[in-house]
Amino acid sequence: MIQTVKTIPELRERLGVWRVQGDSIGLVPTMGALHDGHLSLVRLSKQKTARTVATLFINPAQFGPNEDLDQYPRDIAQDKAKLEAEDCDLLFLPDGGEIYPPGHVTKVRVEGICDILEGEFRPGFFTGVATVVTKLLLQALPDIAVFGEKDYQQLQVIKRLVRDLDIPVVVEAAPTVRETDGLAMASRNAYLTPKERDIAPVLFGTLSQVAENVGRGVSAKDQAQWGREQLERAGFGKIDYLTVRNAETLEEVDNASSPARVLVAAWLGKARLIDNVAV
Ligand code: PAF
Repeated sequence: MIQTVKTIPELRERLGVWRVQGDSIGLVPTMGALHDGHLSLVRLSKQKTARTVATLFINPAQFGPNEDLDQYPRDIAQDKAKLEAEDCDLLFLPDGGEIYPPGHVTKVRVEGICDILEGEFRPGFFTGVATVVTKLLLQALPDIAVFGEKDYQQLQVIKRLVRDLDIPVVVEAAPTVRETDGLAMASRNAYLTPKERDIAPVLFGTLSQVAENVGRGVSAKDQAQWGREQLERAGFGKIDYLTVRNAETLEEVDNASSPARVLVAAWLGKARLIDNVAV
C-alpha cells in the first residue's frame, strides 16, 4: 500500500531524504474522491519529477456554511489503492488539527480575482483554497505543483499567489479529463441522478459551441445569452454564470482578440457543475 504520512514533520523528513538524493518533487493537492482527472495530475507530475506526493485533505475552510462539507464523497481506502496503482510515491493525509491547529488565524486572500465568478457565488471559497494551498506548498516545498484546468479560476488564483508570495514552485496546469460524452470528471458528479447524468453533457456541448462562435467573431455577450438559453432548455436549474473572460485576468471580454475562456457554473438537481473551454 502507498506510503502515508500524517504530520508535517514526517512529510518534511521524507521529502528531505529525496532532496538529498537529488530527486525532484511534484505535489498533487486533492480533496480525495479520486477519479481519472486527479490521476492525470499524478501522471503529469510523474512525467516531470522523480518523486510525486499526493495530498488528501478535505479543507473545511473552502466550504460555505450551507455547502456540502458533510456530504462530500469520502473513500480513503479506494483513494489509496488508486494512488498505489499509479505508483505515486507518498500520500500526505493530515487531519484538521495538523493543518489548522488551535489558534490558527492567518488567511491568504488574493484580491480581485477571488471576488468574481466562483468568488461571487461562494464567498470565502478562494480564501480557503489560497490559504490551504499556500500552506501545502510551504510544507512540502515541491519543485512543481499540479492543478487541473477543470477548476480554471482556482488555477489562476494559485498562479497569482505563487507569483505574489515568491513561492519557489512551478505551477503546472493539466487539461480537463472528460467522460466519453464530454462531461468533465468531478467528484460532485456523484450527486447526479441517472436522468440528470443524461442531461449533464449538454454543458460541455454548449460551451464548445459558444467558444467556437466567439472564436469566429460572434459577440461574446450574445453567445453567452444563447448558451444560457440552451442550458435552460435542456433542463438545467439556476445558471450562476456563463460568460466569456480574458484567459488570465478573467475580466469580461466581448471579442476574442486576446486569449479568452468560456466559463460556466450551473445547477443540475443537487449538483453544481462547473466547466470551462478555451476560445
Ligand atoms: O481542487 C481541489 O481539490 C482543492 O480546491 C484543492 C486545490 C486540493 C485545495 O483544497
